[in-house]
Amino acid sequence: MIPVVKTIDEVRKYVKSWRREGLSVGLVPTMGFLHEGHRSLIDRAVSENDRVVVSDFVNPTQFGPGEDLEAYPRDLERDAALCEEAGAALIFNPEPEEMYRGALTTVSVDKLTKVLCGKSRPVHFDGVCTVVSKLFNIVTPDRAYFGQKDAQQLCVVRKMVKDLNFDIEVIGCPIVREADGLAKSSRNTYLSPEERKAALCLSRALSAGRAAVDSGESSAGAVKAIVRAEIEKEPLARIDYVEAVDMDTFEDAETVRAPFLAAVAVYIGKTRLIDNFIIE
Ligand code: PAF
Repeated sequence: MIPVVKTIDEVRKYVKSWRREGLSVGLVPTMGFLHEGHRSLIDRAVSENDRVVVSDFVNPTQFGPGEDLEAYPRDLERDAALCEEAGAALIFNPEPEEMYRGALTTVSVDKLTKVLCGKSRPVHFDGVCTVVSKLFNIVTPDRAYFGQKDAQQLCVVRKMVKDLNFDIEVIGCPIVREADGLAKSSRNTYLSPEERKAALCLSRALSAGRAAVDSGESSAGAVKAIVRAEIEKEPLARIDYVEAVDMDTFEDAETVRAPFLAAVAVYIGKTRLIDNFIIE
């Protein structure tokens, strides 16, 4: 059975012994309740590294007041089975105490975190950057794997790695979707059957936006309007944002020019879902 360790010291012991053997190490940071999206990150990590560590930690510092920290789904046993099957070497599943006992330090990336998800979730990215920095320092991986569904997170982590000179390659992996288009997310489990159907408005709207780009639409405003109009057809949907930005600066895009990110956050009932498309 794959080892599940709870302490930073134990992770370090494993990594040191691998390093002595000259092995490379990949890290897949997760909050657990793993699905096929995570599985694709682990598969890629296993194919590119000798040993893979999966962190499985519902990080309290990235949840704001009134968000779903307590409700966030957890199933370590199932996660361990998935990691083992995928060929990961170690799961790091610390308690919040282990990660944050006495901590007074926060890692913060400016500017990129003030827009899109950062507007409605003001503490979120500080929590992400802090925990990801800690995981990087604990595991010292050669490579770390993040999903493109959280496109803003991926860009923020890349910027942090550059600014803080982490010697780690950050690898972004494509969004994995259900057969009907819904982007895989641990939060999809919150949806009632009726909400599950309504949630398809995100991928449908983004596909409409993408189709417009593919047929030559070059105005970012027009693409946003197409996406917004499609979501607004769904009565159970409440838009948090529909944005189109330059992916390097996260400034509003006027024209559709790579690197371009069209991103949405939409409440379906009480569940906030995100999705996007990228033109690289
Ligand atoms: O994407 C996530 O699941 C989390 O934000 C991460 C990167 C594991 C940090 O807690």
